Amino acid sequence: MTSLTRLNLDFKSAFERAFPECTQLYQGDFLANTGDNYTWKGAPRLTKELKLDSTEIAEKIRDQFLSDEGEIKSIHSGIIIVAIKVGVIIRKLEYMHADSDRLGVQLSQNPDRVVIDFSSPNVAKELHVGHLRSTIIGESLARILEFLGNDVFRVNHIGDWGTQFGMLICLIKYEQMDISNLDLSDLMKCYREAKKRFDNDPEFKAQSKKEVVNLQSGDLEAKRMWEQICQVSRNAFQKIYEDLDVTINEMGESFYNDMLEPLVRELLEKEVAVVSDDAVVVHCDESAPFMLRKSDGGYTYDTTDLAALNYRIDTLKGNRLIYVVDEGQSQHFQLLWKAGEKAGILDPRKIQTTHAEFGVVKGIDGKKFKTRSGEVALLKDLIQEAKEKARETFKKRAEKDGEFYNEQSADILGLAALKYADLKTSRQRDYVFNSDQMLSFKGNTAVFILYSLVRIHSIKEKIGKPVSNTPFALNDPKEIALGLHLTQFDEVLSRVATLLEPHHLCDFLYQLAVKFNTFYQHCKVQGTPEEDSRLRLCDLVGKVGTLGFKLLAIRTLEKM
Ligand code: ARG
Repeated sequence: MTSLTRLNLDFKSAFERAFPECTQLYQGDFLANTGDNYTWKGAPRLTKELKLDSTEIAEKIRDQFLSDEGEIKSIHSGIIIVAIKVGVIIRKLEYMHADSDRLGVQLSQNPDRVVIDFSSPNVAKELHVGHLRSTIIGESLARILEFLGNDVFRVNHIGDWGTQFGMLICLIKYEQMDISNLDLSDLMKCYREAKKRFDNDPEFKAQSKKEVVNLQSGDLEAKRMWEQICQVSRNAFQKIYEDLDVTINEMGESFYNDMLEPLVRELLEKEVAVVSDDAVVVHCDESAPFMLRKSDGGYTYDTTDLAALNYRIDTLKGNRLIYVVDEGQSQHFQLLWKAGEKAGILDPRKIQTTHAEFGVVKGIDGKKFKTRSGEVALLKDLIQEAKEKARETFKKRAEKDGEFYNEQSADILGLAALKYADLKTSRQRDYVFNSDQMLSFKGNTAVFILYSLVRIHSIKEKIGKPVSNTPFALNDPKEIALGLHLTQFDEVLSRVATLLEPHHLCDFLYQLAVKFNTFYQHCKVQGTPEEDSRLRLCDLVGKVGTLGFKLLAIRTLEKM
């Protein structure tokens, strides 16, 4: 049974298990040889780095394979020959194809209650390029964790509270503006203007501070204006989430307002927190203290996050807490968890916390991505650019080659290209935003992979008969290589769920497309004795590819 549901034929995972401390040394891929032998060239570098001879290396890796699945046959000048039983691959493919919804991916035996914090923009500010990463990495992680059977709660920890509202309300009152006529970009302009006046006009500053106090003490007029400002922002965020196929629950900073005062009081009583220069802090280590209350009595980002940590554990019952937030906040989260531990809120033996941090998006010039006028690039503009570029590219192609074109499909491709280019980059690394490259038909792009899936639709259409249950027969090495790759789908999903790195799924889908194209070049499908089995293999590639993309929150097409 185990060999049917989970094959250990993934050499990379076997290597990682055998040498957990040297995973970065793994290079290369299985290369299909003849019959059911696979070769792997990696040993010369390893023998040097690990100070083991190649037989010892082979021994260690051999232990990671189940004996009825594959076997290391020999090692010769750095080439490891692994024999894989094709029958085992076939058994797994049968199992996957019969399981049309889950494609052989089993539900987790120990599901977690996951609380994942992502996107989390600030009210009265537009989503910018930095939010692209958090939003789409978060959405795809949530989908994958859910698919594996975890109970996932998605949190949008929006910045909807703080002193900036005093300035905004003050300006809106001074200028007698009607908030219901404003959109988010007007609010952004107001915010800039208010900031300028706050810094230069003492009367405006004093009035703004008063408005903060009004808002905090529940003044009805201030509260109403604050709600309107939040609603304008919410509408704009929602439009982007719909475009990106993102679902998330708003539970912003203001949600915790009533919990802050009792929390700080309790921590003072327990002597976890101390008063220092009129402020209330928790000393976690030698670095900056965790600030619970400023000397002017105001609560901070830290206070809210500690209350949120408590809520996520205590009320939401999360046992795996994930924060998809840029790498710049890594120290904040380290301190938050230390403070949480000290306060008795977080028991690290029971609760797993992860900062799924990510690097920055850069422009072609290698600097932080900005618009031509030097401003931070807005997410809505990037989405627009991706769609427009896709329309232009695919229209041109349609005019030249008489290919199919419609605007809706071009928009889907534009969004797919944008999301994939981001997700395929290892989370921690920075990457360069290049709208021409991401729409290329060649290389590791969404367009290339989606095109391969479309090709499968047209093969099926051309053959024009239903996919049968004829047993898989893998004979050609290219066919075996494709089959072997398909069997690794469940391994890849669990790797993403463990490491919280969606790029492993992107790599898998890219390799799937590459292996499928090689197979299709070498192995004729229509009108051969293998037609039924090969049609079925194509069908399975299509299903795995489509599900894979769905888990990345990327739409697929039947035609392009
Ligand atoms: N609003 C914050 C920002 O834009 C991100 C919040 C992340 N989540 C959290 N629980 N701190 O930087």
